[in-house]
Amino acid sequence: MTEPMTSVLREMRWWDIDPVLELERKLFPDDAWSRGMFWSELAHARGPEATRKYLVAEAGDRIVGYAGLASSGEQADIQTIAVTREQWGTGLGGRLLTELLRAATAFECAEVMLECRVDNIRAQKLYERFGFEAIGFRRGYYQPGNVDALVMRLTDPSTSVQGTEING
Ligand SMILES: CC(C)(COP(=O)(O)OP(=O)(O)OC[C@H]1O[C@@H](n2cnc3c(N)ncnc32)[C@H](O)[C@@H]1OP(=O)(O)O)[C@@H](O)C(=O)NCCC(=O)NCCS
Repeated sequence: MTEPMTSVLREMRWWDIDPVLELERKLFPDDAWSRGMFWSELAHARGPEATRKYLVAEAGDRIVGYAGLASSGEQADIQTIAVTREQWGTGLGGRLLTELLRAATAFECAEVMLECRVDNIRAQKLYERFGFEAIGFRRGYYQPGNVDALVMRLTDPSTSVQGTEING
């Protein structure tokens, strides 16, 4: 078996939306984001008033992962995080999450929230590793499948990312 190629994290730009959408439709077949949703998030990701941080992981000329965070006052939300299936378990999800938590720290957010499908154990394990705790449910949050969301919260994101490296 060939080893997955090492990836580099960088800011997501508008020209990444097409390859990101391709991954999005594979990884979230029931509730994939639209092109317009990515465009509108990226519209708030640059400049002094930026409230979003969006990243891609690039291996050679391929996008192999992406993630995004929105900040609003004291609170940040993990908007999305995804890694191509061939790279699952390689730590890439952790690297993307680390960088989002760094961004939450830079936005001076005291807590980070997220929703995760209740049946997505792999993602929940990743979040727990970073200190997220389950605080409740949103019934029927994911439509059309009517799947519940687990709501998770991390307080003080800066303590979860101290001394970590993102690339490699
Ligand atoms: C969730 C996701 C981003 C994780 O990415 P990843 O690159 O696999 O993440 P990592 O390798 O950093 O960590 C994976 C963690 O999953 C857990 N894990 C690994 N294999 C697992 C398995 N077979 N079953 C359950 N959990 C498993 C482990 O806790 C692992 O952490 P560890 O390093 O402590 O062992 C990726 O699986 C993905 O893109 N899934 C589809 C999209 C998605 O569900 N996104 C999250 C929406 S809430």
